[in-house]
Amino acid sequence: MKILVINGPNLNFLGIREPDIYGKNTYRDLCALLENAAKERNVDIEIFQSNHEGELVEKIQWAYFHKVDGIVINPAAYTHTSVAILDALKAVNIPAVEVHISDVDSREDFRQISYVGKYCFKRIAGEGFDGYVHAMDVLIDKLK
Ligand code: DQA
Repeated sequence: MKILVINGPNLNFLGIREPDIYGKNTYRDLCALLENAAKERNVDIEIFQSNHEGELVEKIQWAYFHKVDGIVINPAAYTHTSVAILDALKAVNIPAVEVHISDVDSREDFRQISYVGKYCFKRIAGEGFDGYVHAMDVLIDKLK
């Protein structure tokens, strides 16, 4: 089983950006957590981060050609704006789970809209980095 984890803009700044909201652990820590979790679960993992909307779209298209079975996606700010990322997910038609480190539901009004949420079969928010592992487990269960 092959899982792709996609992270959107500013997530490479984890540990630096707003630590009161996103915590003190870094993007490298997140990658290490995910690599370990994948190893324990015996799944192949590819982790990708970009600050550019088009690159996120291209990585989703890449998933189609590289036989990815499931996608965990935190589109970050593009969650609330990007029809292009929603359309890319619909185009490749690969099961996907939406993740947010923070509890977006209890934040600003503009964070209440999620375009990718119109495609993803599950949304996990407010669980910190562990939310990504939770998302991986939900995907593995669905794909079994
Ligand atoms: C985020 C929440 C988004 O609203 C925000 O723009 C982010 C991170 C999260 O993981 O909590 O960059 O997706």
